[in-house]
Amino acid sequence: MGKMVIYPGSFDPITNGHLSILRRALTIFDSITIAVASDPMKKTLFTLAERMEMIRESIKKDDKVFVESFSGLLVNYVVSKKSNIILRGLRALSDFEYEFQLSLMNRKLNGNIQTVFLMTDYRWFYISSTIIKEAASLGGTINGLVPEIVCKKLKEKFAVNKPENKGG
Ligand code: COA
Repeated sequence: MGKMVIYPGSFDPITNGHLSILRRALTIFDSITIAVASDPMKKTLFTLAERMEMIRESIKKDDKVFVESFSGLLVNYVVSKKSNIILRGLRALSDFEYEFQLSLMNRKLNGNIQTVFLMTDYRWFYISSTIIKEAASLGGTINGLVPEIVCKKLKEKFAVNKPENKGG
């Protein structure tokens, strides 16, 4: 069995930025488990089942990529998968402080686990799940920034939630 890395996140929803990290990590590690946080601190737009379904549909069938959910401490989940590596993507400077804090806390919780960072491709430097949700909620085009299934699900979500036009 080769090196397996755990790629955790809330993935609310998965973006092309996440997929780019995934693709590139596959050239380094033997297998990747995408670990979807079932109860992230931030409130999610999509349910756990929806977030996992969008990931599964976005990744091409690959026997080196697994999609799972986890709850509780990430380090405990990593140990349960018999891995010791966490993968995270880094975008702008603004990510650095949070990621630094997260990786140091994880190291404090379990000193055997290492966090590996891959720099996001410049094309995805400015996107985040939040900014994509905001644009989609206001009717903006998000084609090309997220996988097709995510585009479709966001449209559905915001069509349902759209307030009645009470113009006069
Ligand atoms: N390109 C574009 N955007 C990217 C990206 C990339 N390559 N990588 C991350 N992002 C964006 C995401 O879109 C997301 O945007 P948002 O903040 O607007 O939603 C943001 O960066 C980070 O999201 P994500 O990658 O899904 O991770 P997260 O920060 O939501 O995940 C956990 C955090 C789940 C890993 C962390 O909270 C955790 O481990 N929780 C379990 C409890 C625990 O052990 N906590 C730590 C110790 S106490």
